[in-house]
Amino acid sequence: MATMISSSSTVNLPMTVKTNSFSTSPSSSINSKHILPSQLPCTPTNHGLSLRYDGNPLRCRHRRSPQSTNSANFQVLASATVEPLKIMISGAPASGKGTQCELIKEKYGLVHIAAGDLLRAEIAAGSENGKRAKEHMEKGQLVPDEIVVTMVKERLSQPDSQENGWLLDGYPRSLSQATALKKYGFQPDLFILLEVPEDTLVERVVGRRLDPVTGKIYHVKYSPPETDEIAARLTKRFDDTEEKVKLRLKTHHHNVEAVLSLYEDVTVKVNGSVNKEDVFAQIDVALTNLLEQRKSALGSLAA
Ligand code: AP5
Repeated sequence: MATMISSSSTVNLPMTVKTNSFSTSPSSSINSKHILPSQLPCTPTNHGLSLRYDGNPLRCRHRRSPQSTNSANFQVLASATVEPLKIMISGAPASGKGTQCELIKEKYGLVHIAAGDLLRAEIAAGSENGKRAKEHMEKGQLVPDEIVVTMVKERLSQPDSQENGWLLDGYPRSLSQATALKKYGFQPDLFILLEVPEDTLVERVVGRRLDPVTGKIYHVKYSPPETDEIAARLTKRFDDTEEKVKLRLKTHHHNVEAVLSLYEDVTVKVNGSVNKEDVFAQIDVALTNLLEQRKSALGSLAA
């Protein structure tokens, strides 16, 4: 498996990183034998590239030294580390995506990006995009790509998402959105699909409440508020009615297969009908395994 190096971005070390040749070309690949961190050269190679292992287990990156302005002086620093996680979570309306994202974010520190939340923020801001989005959301339809695609792409591109890894919730929801993401270079390490029977979904939607102060998701029966003060300020989403969730479900069924087909090789299906802690336990296993695989790849690099 080869790793691509570009002159300005983080290097994604795969499970087994192999190298003995580097170049400054964005399209050059790493190949041949395993790197030993102690063997990573700190002086320019004959391709004008240098690498340095800094022992930081968080990432592998390389960059031009500030004084380097031409290829002769071009210097690249690299550290063999675990790349931040890139996770997508999908499922029918009220399958528990937002609830699981709260738990994943807490444990793994990923940046949670929810397409629905970004749209609701536009609505709250009274923007033109927000007004248009609401018309579609009221009908349980997907908001047009020209509003959603750029919005999500810009959020994914921000430094916190790039540094800490991202957790994309409810996006992509159509083949065109998935294709656009791929075109912009955003590919997930894992695609989590929450599976929940339909009658459970309706009950969850109707009983859902939100805390406008903390953003926390509650349910009148399954996840009641901790205090009377919180209970008094809880709100309900405008599309959380039995009638509207049926429309949202129809839209979901219409699109889900096309999206899944693009991420088949990284999809993990999770039983979302058990309590939220048990749902999280399944996700936690998948994420832990992924990180373990990456760490052992680095271990073999250092061996
Ligand atoms: P969005 O906000 O994404 O809504 P959704 O997909 O319908 O999902 P929900 O937010 O309703 O549910 P969830 O899966 O997060 O469940 P939650 O954790 O809250 O999208 C809204 C609209 O925006 C769309 O209809 C569309 O119009 C538009 N839109 C969004 N993304 C778009 C895109 N990519 N392109 C175009 N348009 C887009 O849980 C639900 C309830 O169940 C809560 O009360 C919770 O406490 C409870 N609960 C959760 N887990 C459990 C459990 N294990 N056991 C018991 N109760 C549980």
